[in-house]
Order: sequence, then structure tokens, then C-alpha cells
Amino acid sequence: MTHPIDLAALPRDFAWGVATSAYQVEGAVAEDGRSPSIWDVFSHTPGKIDNGDDGDAACDHYHRWREDVALMKELGVTSYRFSVAWPRVLPGGDGAVDPRGLGFYSRLVDALLEAGITPNVTLYHWDLPQVLQDRGGWPARETAERFAAYASVVAEALGDRVRQWATINEPLCCAWIGHLEGKMAPGLTDITAAVRASYHLLLGHGLAAQAVRAAAPGSRIGIVNNLSTVAPASDSEADVAAARRMDGHTNRWWLDPVTGRGFPADMLEVYGVDLPERPGDLATIAQPLDWMGLNYYFPVTVADDPDGPPPFARQVDRPGVPRTGMGWEVDAGGLESLIMRLTEEYGARRIYITENGSAYPDTVSADGTVDDPERTSYLERHLDACARAARRGAPLAGYYAWSLLDNFEWAYGYDKRFGLVHVDYGTQRRTVKTSGRRYRDVIAAHRTHASDEDQDPVAVSA
Ligand code: IFM
Repeated sequence: MTHPIDLAALPRDFAWGVATSAYQVEGAVAEDGRSPSIWDVFSHTPGKIDNGDDGDAACDHYHRWREDVALMKELGVTSYRFSVAWPRVLPGGDGAVDPRGLGFYSRLVDALLEAGITPNVTLYHWDLPQVLQDRGGWPARETAERFAAYASVVAEALGDRVRQWATINEPLCCAWIGHLEGKMAPGLTDITAAVRASYHLLLGHGLAAQAVRAAAPGSRIGIVNNLSTVAPASDSEADVAAARRMDGHTNRWWLDPVTGRGFPADMLEVYGVDLPERPGDLATIAQPLDWMGLNYYFPVTVADDPDGPPPFARQVDRPGVPRTGMGWEVDAGGLESLIMRLTEEYGARRIYITENGSAYPDTVSADGTVDDPERTSYLERHLDACARAARRGAPLAGYYAWSLLDNFEWAYGYDKRFGLVHVDYGTQRRTVKTSGRRYRDVIAAHRTHASDEDQDPVAVSA
């Protein structure tokens, strides 16, 4: 049973994309001068990653990128969101550029353009050069400054062909999961380090936006945040206040500063940490945003947790709701609400769903096919949520499925598969799943519809 998608609600030039990130797919971690990143170090620390996995080989995209571009072409996608690995371009963190690292991305960009696929480049998807971690990492201001210098190098090299840039992917994960919860690199559990990291990540975003605009005038720059709708577990005053704090922690802390509202005062009180602010920083952080990137996976429900870590709100599982293989609740309505929130509350000029997807334990059938009905349904329902938001006037410009390929899912290793394309890690064989074929059909149906004069809603079925 396919779920209908109101494709007529989406603009004619809607970007149909797929997304990946460098450390999750590239492999080749010691090739062409690449230096270790914090994720190489973290993933090789015993006990940090399920099954003792690491990103050493990943999907071998560094060598198989031509095949992967061909796959994208086969799916009919019109845009590819990928990230550049800082330690490939500047193995020392700053200073000398390695032309081999830059050359890889330059060839990839050329191949994408040749295939009619628009590159959407993320400058930072969590792989900080370890040398910079050793100098203080994101809790240190210097890292934000180094990030801008790196952004300038990449924009100078690719800016003649790349227009669409994201500075930082999901600063929440870097700051909160990496420095407060300790479940991602660099693995700290320190609220002061976490708040300082969050501040410098956003400062780095602003400085990098300026650097890219200076190096490649006409660039369209955004930041990518992973947001969730937040609901209280009960209507008690304590749970409602906990939900407000969790909303601050997950959403407002990241959106307010980049849209010129400064850091939320209530959250400064919750964290109890002084910001390392210098005059002018808030204006730097609030650079004009050509677009806002929204990564959406799940909604959260929280209860008060006075003895827990900041923001003193504990996530509770609602019984009887469908969940993905990550245990994440499936709720496409949350995507619609967040798109509307970015539109109405934050005045977004353009919105891209820069990631959305689901992990399920896929199996390869005897005939070599991979049938993934749950992921297919997740995809359809979330695309229809996009269409609903567009009908309500949201400036929605594109959708990037996470992910093109099954890949290294950070602390969960390779067991959690998010791809529209299955990867056999033993052979590196790629197989398009049912969800991938459905995505291809949806894209084709939208193209047909968009080229039609008739703007009546169409229900697409595979
Ligand atoms: O795999 C990650 C990605 O790197 C960032 N956003 C969420 C995805 C799924 O967890």
C-alpha cells in the first residue's frame, strides 16, 4: 500500500536530494595525507562503538564515488548533500593545504555537475582534526577561527562550481552529545565544556559564513540543525516546565542566536555557565541565512528530572507508538510542525529538509533484493508532511533523504542501516532498496507533474 503524496504542493524547482557525510561513507582514513579526526580517535577507543566498529573502510566512497554518482543518477536525484573532511584538506588543522584532499572533492563536484546533480556542501559534519582537539577543540575560541580559515580554503577551491553551502551540521550533537553526554567524539561529560563548545560552534558558523561569502560571492549559505517537537509527559507544572527546558536545549539554543535573538536567557540560567562572549560575537553569529537546514527524525516527550544532567528533563517512551530500529518514534506530523515553526517563528527565507530517514534491520532476500516497507512508508509520510507545510505557505525548497547509502552510524556502528541503497560491507556491493525505487518514482512523478501546465493535485503511486 503506498501512501499518497500531494506532489503538486511542492515547487517546480524542488530539490530532490540524498545526503551523506564524509566520515560515515568515505573510508580511506589514512590516504592522501588525511590526518586523524576526533572520530578516528573516538571510534578506536574500546567500548565507544557498538561491535567495536570504526570508520576506517565505511562505504569506501573515497574510491567508489563514481559508482555512487551513477547510483544517484539512477535514482533521479537533483542534488547531493555531502560533507568535506577538514583533516583531508588541512591535515594540520590549519596551515598547509593538501591538494590531494581538495582534489577528491573537486573531482566529485565535477562529476555531479556532469550528471546534472547540484552539490550542497557541508563544511563540518563532526570530523574535527585531532590536532585541533589537542589544542582545546570546540571549547576553545581558536577552533572557531581555524574553522573559518578552513572554510575559506574550501570555498576558494570549489566556489566556482558550488553555490550551496552549509557551515555546520547539527551543532547540538557536537556540543551536547559530544561534550555533555559523552556518547560522541570527543566523549566529554562536562557542562562547561559543552556550553563553550556550543558557543564556538555557532561563532564558527558565523565566521565561516563570512569567509565563504568573501571567497565565493553569490554563495547561498545555511546552517543545519536537528530539531524535535517537544511535548510534556503530563500536564503537571513540573513536566510542562521540563518540556520548555528541553525545547530550549534542543531547538531555541540553536535557532535563536543565528536569527539574531541571542542565546535564550532561561537556558543560560539552566546551564549556569558564563558564555565566553566578546563584543560583536552575537552579530557575527547572526549572519544572514539564505536558507535554514532542518534535520528531522523524531518527536520527544519529556518528564521533569531534577537529579539528571541539564536540562533536567528525562525522555519518556510513549507506549504503543511505532518506532524505527533506532527506537525513535515515527511521527511525520512533527516534521510539518517544525517546518511551520521555522517559517512563522523564525522567518526562514528558504528551508531545506537536509536530512530525514529511518533505520530498520534490512535483509537481503535470496533473489538479491532488499524490501523495506517500513522505510518506504516513513519516506512517503514525511514527504507528504513536507507537502502539507508547503501548502500552508512554508518556503520549502528541497528534501534530502538520509541516507543515500547504509553507512557508519556513529556510536551504533554499521548495524543501523539508514540507506535507500543497501551496502554489503564485505563486498561493498550496492543494492537499491524498495524505498530507493519508490523515491525514484516519486521524483519522476513530480518532474512529470512540474512539466505539466495542469497544477491539480496528484496522488503518486508506485
Ligand atoms: O547519521 C546521522 C547523521 O550523521 C546526522 N544526523 C542524524 C543521522 C542519523 O542518526
